Amino acid sequence: MRGRTIAAATTALALSCGPALALDVEAARKQFVTSCGVCHAVEKDAAPRQGPNLFGVVGRKAASLEGFAYSPALKQLDTVWSDDTLDAWIADPKAVAPGSVMIYRQADPAKRLLIIAYLKTLSN
Ligand code: HEC
Repeated sequence: MRGRTIAAATTALALSCGPALALDVEAARKQFVTSCGVCHAVEKDAAPRQGPNLFGVVGRKAASLEGFAYSPALKQLDTVWSDDTLDAWIADPKAVAPGSVMIYRQADPAKRLLIIAYLKTLSN
């Protein structure tokens, strides 16, 4: 467990250290497509798939996209998507919002960090 925490911290550091250790956006995008792309579009104004469009999701209030039929559980979750809330959600959506309907869990903290870093590149 300790090893994992250190690995995650090292990745976090790498992602936040600027040009010398710049984020490999293409690798991050690929990880997103592999893990999330089946269910989530990220092009601005693209139609939802099984899940809502994630363009601009960082900083967005949970369950706030017009026209997407969120579960009651997610609608009741009073949160804003940030590094921390996204990390917890991707690790185990049902722990964050029992009754939510996203059928996916990513146990690897390094992959979660990469995906969140990619989501942060998607905004106006
Ligand atoms: C099998 C399909 C599926 C996969 C794979 C999936 N999701 Fe989802 N996601 C959903 C569904 C369905 C919802 C709506 C959940 C609800 O309403 O309870 C959702 C909701 C979300 C939300 C809330 C968005 C909002 O507008 O509040 C975020 C953030 C999210 N997913 C991120 C991800 C990320 C990042 C990944 C990849 C690591 C991922 N999801 C993988 C189906 C999926």
